Amino acid sequence: MFITLEGPEGSGKTSHIPYLVEYLREKGHVVFPTREPGGTSIGEQVRDILHDLKNVEMHPHTETLLYQAARAQIVEQVIKPRLSAGEIVISDRYFDSTIAYQGYGHKQDLEQVRALVKYATGGLMPDLTILLDVDVEVGLRRKKQNGDEWNRMDAHEVAFYQRVRNGYLELVKAEPPLRWVVVDSSQKWDDVQSELRKIIEGKIP
Ligand SMILES: Nc1ncnc2c1ncn2[C@@H]1O[C@H](COP(=O)(O)OP(=O)(O)O)[C@@H](O)[C@H]1O
Ligand SMILES: [Mg+2]
Repeated sequence: MFITLEGPEGSGKTSHIPYLVEYLREKGHVVFPTREPGGTSIGEQVRDILHDLKNVEMHPHTETLLYQAARAQIVEQVIKPRLSAGEIVISDRYFDSTIAYQGYGHKQDLEQVRALVKYATGGLMPDLTILLDVDVEVGLRRKKQNGDEWNRMDAHEVAFYQRVRNGYLELVKAEPPLRWVVVDSSQKWDDVQSELRKIIEGKIP
């Protein structure tokens, strides 16, 4: 089973995953957490380029391609083998992030972006994608208040993140509700965590 967590900055993806993993392992599942971009040696090197605040001149096309490079590596090196071994893979972001950020955020042609994504993933789809949805300003404030990592992808104007959030909501609307579940991440952290646990357990065969 392949689960992906999506959502704008500060929506809670990174902080929730370790607790979900621990919970599922206690229930006897074999769980492998991973993150994008990164999750492999090559992917982490690409992540450094993408996140480096010095790379202000990066063109959206370059950015889109770098994300796909890191993604292709993690899909082939990590995700597919783990899924074949029957493990539950939980990823902090996956291709929907590219549609939301590079497609909607940077206003790139969605069909072209989708074609690149398909090439990078080989068409591998998640079984479940949870959108942690939160007001953009609330999410950004959380990140700043908690002194979390601040990188090039955090340094856009608020309007960019509004487009990203709306893009995610468009994606949910456009697909049958089989893959997506939206969780209101403006709730208390503990309440979000219990909702996530319920959703995931309900999906595990
Ligand atoms: N529901 C919540 N209420 C309050 N703070 C939260 C909540 N969810 C996440 N946070 C905090 O916001 C910050 C960003 O969360 P994080 O999990 O890193 O978000 P993301 O990975 O989606 O950008 C973290 O310091 C986290 O503890
Ligand atoms: Mg994060």
